[in-house]
Amino acid sequence: MSEVIVDLQHVSKAYGSTTVLKDINIEIEQGKFYTLLGPSGSGKTTILRAIAGFLDVTEGDILFQGKRINDVPANQRNVNTVFQDYALFPHMNVFDNVAYGLRIRKTDKSQITDRVDAALKMVRLSGYGDREISELSGGQQQRVAIARAIVLEPQVLLLDEPLSALDAKLRRDMQYELRELQQRLGITFLFVTHDQEEALALSDEIFVMNDGEVQQSGTPVDIYDEPINHFVADFIGESNIVSGHMVADYLVEFNGKEFESVDAGMKPNEPVEVVLRPEDLDITTVDAGKVEVEVDTQLFRGDYYEIVAYDRLGNEWLIHATNPAKEGETVGLTFDAEDIHVMRLNESEEDFDARLESYEGE
Ligand SMILES: Nc1ncnc2c1ncn2[C@@H]1O[C@H](COP(=O)(O)OP(=O)(O)OP(=O)(O)O)[C@@H](O)[C@H]1O
Ligand SMILES: [Mg+2]
Repeated sequence: MSEVIVDLQHVSKAYGSTTVLKDINIEIEQGKFYTLLGPSGSGKTTILRAIAGFLDVTEGDILFQGKRINDVPANQRNVNTVFQDYALFPHMNVFDNVAYGLRIRKTDKSQITDRVDAALKMVRLSGYGDREISELSGGQQQRVAIARAIVLEPQVLLLDEPLSALDAKLRRDMQYELRELQQRLGITFLFVTHDQEEALALSDEIFVMNDGEVQQSGTPVDIYDEPINHFVADFIGESNIVSGHMVADYLVEFNGKEFESVDAGMKPNEPVEVVLRPEDLDITTVDAGKVEVEVDTQLFRGDYYEIVAYDRLGNEWLIHATNPAKEGETVGLTFDAEDIHVMRLNESEEDFDARLESYEGE
């Protein structure tokens, strides 16, 4: 079992009468890659600042290797941060920015050069050491900020949207670099992004945030396959979400019909929401289909056709199909029982986990 290195227990933060973090409970184990994922204003940066020691929390405890650190100053926490606004030293060149922390720690001069060079190489900035910060693009500055933090090899690295200023190609390269670095050095990463694909690709575990609360935590596969509620299903990947009710265990009604599903543990007739992912829907004839829809529009996306269609109740259906459809045509949609994911309307994460455990693996 891995050691818990950072532990937030019932952490809340309020500014005046506005609560921006509500009862946050997060356990971070040594050596893993964690991501805080959520929309703008959901509290991601606030959590990093609380862990780094740049703000006082209103309630709750922050533990580092089991010791409460609420009152430990930022510079005495074994944590390093890549800030959302980079926070580079504008009067120093690239090399000196990256070397700064090593010099403070009185690292050997010859070692400093090697380590700074290695860090700059990792962020694809070899040869930029003499440049002034003002002579760099936003994406280059962002990479200097990453180099400055990783060169110190802290136990925990907090990264606040560290790739947001990079173009798609460089961003992808840096994702591989960060993941590789994290695994090679065994540093614990707490990474912030509002890009769900990035979170799914990089993380061992994701905390999905909304409105100052953790909505769901789990592996990328768990969160994608078993979203706890409408917000998570909608935010992670693309989803069709329709209202229905649970007829009995493993039998759900929506769109005027009953369907076999793999979900259980709800009350009879309980109202629910049903998630079907666009890639799990196939287009067939009306007779062979489970849901009848009229194709409205389609876009060619390279590796699939993105089709928008409407059923008779006016619900919109998003379909990712390998073959094109005809606009205006009425077609049937099919899907498997396993592709139906049923969500209760207001289930706590605790109840959700317990319910899944009670019937999964039966
Ligand atoms: N000093 C402050 N005083 C009052 N409200 C604040 C302060 N700092 C942050 N907030 C509020 O706290 C909430 C959470 O902010 P936070 O910066 O953590 O969001 P975020 O998830 O990092 O968003 P983004 O993706 O835009 O960076 C926001 O509604 C923000 O307006
Ligand atoms: Mg932020």
